[in-house]
Amino acid sequence: MADIITAKTAGFCFGVKKAVDKAFELADPEKKVYTYGPVIHNDEVIKRLSDKGVKLLESEEELNALQSGTVILRSHGVPKAVIDLLEDKGIDYVDVTCPFVKRIHDIVYKESEEKQIVIAGNPAHPEVEGIMGWCKTPADVISTEEEADAYEPKDGRDVCLVAQTTFNYKKFKKILEIFEKKSYHVIIVNTICNATANHQTEARSIAEGADAMIVIGDKKSSNSRKLYEICSEVCPRTEFIQTVSELKLKQDGSIRKVGITAGASTPNYIIEEVQNYVRREF
Ligand code: F3S
Repeated sequence: MADIITAKTAGFCFGVKKAVDKAFELADPEKKVYTYGPVIHNDEVIKRLSDKGVKLLESEEELNALQSGTVILRSHGVPKAVIDLLEDKGIDYVDVTCPFVKRIHDIVYKESEEKQIVIAGNPAHPEVEGIMGWCKTPADVISTEEEADAYEPKDGRDVCLVAQTTFNYKKFKKILEIFEKKSYHVIIVNTICNATANHQTEARSIAEGADAMIVIGDKKSSNSRKLYEICSEVCPRTEFIQTVSELKLKQDGSIRKVGITAGASTPNYIIEEVQNYVRREF
């Protein structure tokens, strides 16, 4: 029988767990409960919530058309305008934005009056859209060192640099070094969440010692995909699956150690199903 090592950090991080628990607590088929955008990036969880009557609002038009009910605001955060809209309409909402993301909202809300906000992150990610939506003056987003090199703040304003919580720390360090070398005044707040880095470090160290590695996560989840990339670099027999039914890995006598990890939006019951399967078959 093969040894199985499951990462301690596998699955929900603190912010996602809080958001999902709250969404299931509020779910009630008798009432009108909605989430604005998927509460987390995991189809299985969204489906379970929908089975419990929670409907997904996908656009601002849908939100605007709402007359009553309770809206759950996703863990990645939403722009301030969304909250203002709900308050204007008198619709109940429950904000499950991760406290680490909320901290960024508070920083940019305060600093954007005087300073130019620069966000190190992916401009298309909902978290970054949310952060931009808390800036009182338009924010700039940069994702690469080249963009940092070429960057000039408008009207020579002082700069406040923050990062998307899942931004790569090494890249952020390079960007902040570039910014510090520039002559303009800049304040830098490292808003990267340690959960991601810890997750990645543990995944790599397990994969290094494993004959086969299983990464469980939704194909749309960027942190799950990143875990897969890291594990494949050090363990060629790494598989990326959404649920146990996708697993192709077979015991051929050469697998003595199987590592398992899962993205931050993978629910525990899916991890357990994979563990049970590996325990039986390997
Ligand atoms: Fe929050 Fe960090 Fe998770 S920012 S949602 S605890 S990855």
